[in-house]
Amino acid sequence: MLGSRARALLLIAVLLGAGVLFCDVAAAEDQPSAAQMMDDLMYGRGTVGGPFTLTDPSGRTRSDSEFRGKLMVVYFGYTYCPDVCPADLMAISQALDALGPAAEGIQPVFITVDPERDTKVLADYVAAFHPSLVGLTGSPEEIRKVANSYKAFYAKVPDERSGEYSIDHAGVIYLMGRNGEYLGFVPPQTNPDRLTEVLRKYLAK
Ligand code: NI
Repeated sequence: MLGSRARALLLIAVLLGAGVLFCDVAAAEDQPSAAQMMDDLMYGRGTVGGPFTLTDPSGRTRSDSEFRGKLMVVYFGYTYCPDVCPADLMAISQALDALGPAAEGIQPVFITVDPERDTKVLADYVAAFHPSLVGLTGSPEEIRKVANSYKAFYAKVPDERSGEYSIDHAGVIYLMGRNGEYLGFVPPQTNPDRLTEVLRKYLAK
């Protein structure tokens, strides 16, 4: 027989266990863990990308199907991102410029993972990086669905000091083919020369 103290401890352990399990289930409905998504991406498990319908800053509905015939460079980020997004978008922009006229065969797409804050600001933000960069937004549910299809993890991180939040995100640069098929990804912080080389290779195919 367990003593009352041992029983109480056991009960607490069971409740904590149930709580952990419940949290896991709740998170799983939203998105897999960051580690899981990165793992799947690295080892090429499952599909990456797929059809999406989102909205550009002018309110126009935009779908991946309108970019058929071009390579798509897809990046998930947010305009308040202090360093990772600007650096990667700059690299994409520099690579496109380095490709010259051939860059017309590439459609760069920036999908915000912060639709609550990236409203009007999104248009100016993408224009500041490259004239051909399309910024896309949608409802939080729409964005989550597209991000999950790309295995793009993101999660809000509250900043108690400012009362605002930042967003943890992977910063992977996705390359999609002329028929919308997944070609591969380039890791965050890839330098523009390397990115140019990769894009040139796929353009030549
Ligand atoms: Ni970022």
